[in-house]
Amino acid sequence: MNDSQLWEISTTLPVRFGIFITPNVFSYFNKKILEHGNVGPGARRLVILDRNIVGEYGDAIKRYFSFHKIEAEFLILDCHESTKDLESTLKIVDALEEFHVARRSEPVIAVGGGVLLDMVGFAASIYRRGIPYIRVPTTLIGLVDASLAAKTGINYKVRRNRLGSYYPPLASYLDRVFLKTLEKKHISSGLGEILKMAVVKDSQLFDLLERHGSELLESNFDHPFANEIIARSITGMIEELEPNLWEKDLRRLVDFGHSFSPIIEMKSIHEGYGPALEHGEAVTLDVLYSCIISCLRGSLPRNDLLRIFRVSKSMGLPTNHPLFNDPDVLELALADTMKHRDNAQNLPMPIRIGESGFLNTLTRDEIERAARHLENIQGEI
Ligand SMILES: NC(=O)c1ccc[n+]([C@@H]2O[C@H](COP(=O)([O-])OP(=O)(O)OC[C@H]3O[C@@H](n4cnc5c(N)ncnc54)[C@H](O)[C@@H]3O)[C@@H](O)[C@H]2O)c1
Repeated sequence: MNDSQLWEISTTLPVRFGIFITPNVFSYFNKKILEHGNVGPGARRLVILDRNIVGEYGDAIKRYFSFHKIEAEFLILDCHESTKDLESTLKIVDALEEFHVARRSEPVIAVGGGVLLDMVGFAASIYRRGIPYIRVPTTLIGLVDASLAAKTGINYKVRRNRLGSYYPPLASYLDRVFLKTLEKKHISSGLGEILKMAVVKDSQLFDLLERHGSELLESNFDHPFANEIIARSITGMIEELEPNLWEKDLRRLVDFGHSFSPIIEMKSIHEGYGPALEHGEAVTLDVLYSCIISCLRGSLPRNDLLRIFRVSKSMGLPTNHPLFNDPDVLELALADTMKHRDNAQNLPMPIRIGESGFLNTLTRDEIERAARHLENIQGEI
């Protein structure tokens, strides 16, 4: 060996996973989730369930595995932003350990909302340096967002998703039947993520929300346009995610609504400053606030701004919150996001409904004016 010798390891990591619309995913005849891993004598699975789905769907899920002669163990977790933490993650790790999960042939099955999917994905990514898992979302955000990306994460020290990994599942199976039991505020929250995609890149999706948003909320997505709206939203997300899966490019349109909201959402939950916000509610407020910034700059037409506010309201989403009226909080939130974006603002900004660019020159003065405007516009919507 001499002093200047060099070894280099260079390889690529191919990623391929399917996101399947799968009605009745736990009906006996449906074997989609069993296409991964061992089946037949001795087959086993650890299934991790969101506590709030157990009452309505738990028995059917258990019967599904016994029907297929899979020896299944179940871990039931409380799922909320405030329990998306290391403690819950370690409960999953403990369950994996006690189950003696085989490293490749017994994929863990996660059934729940975005919180559960993110926690199981994270635990799967660190257990034995990575074991396979499958996502079955049961909330609207789970269907249109948390099942699509490669990302996992948990909150740490009151910071959203501060610990996490890029760790795609084997597959995601989307069954909107679960939405029938979802509380309205969580339907609204999911509509907020759909609205984000509509405003930033899909004016037709916006038109659909404008026409049917309130009915979708009313019917818990049991609606003739539900499939089209979910599919358009997923397609838009995947168009953005796939070419930039590892987020090498930190200018991401899907970060629209996620510039000020991460800190504000956590503050609203942990500091009791205004009502506690659901994820999609915080995203929507960020969308509305960003739209005001764009409008005050003369980019987004005023009429588009008012349409966006009115659609949000029609879908049960908040249009104001005290934390979005506080320039100091907004500035702090932006500073934290800029770290995430490698010291750049990279603020996605709509120039009209369905079309956007990025902004990197937001000033304190504009933050203040937009915060005031958010209060003043309430009387007009
Ligand atoms: N990894 C990603 O790319 C990604 C993308 C978007 C969002 N997320 C994460 O998703 C989370 C938000 O997800 P969420 O809105 O699903 O919240 P959530 O998981 O907290 O679910 C909302 C509530 O609904 C309950 N619930 C779940 N399914 C139900 C059902 N079918 N019927 C009745 N109640 C049900 C849950 O127990 C919870 O109380 C955030 O933590 C966010 O960071 C991750």
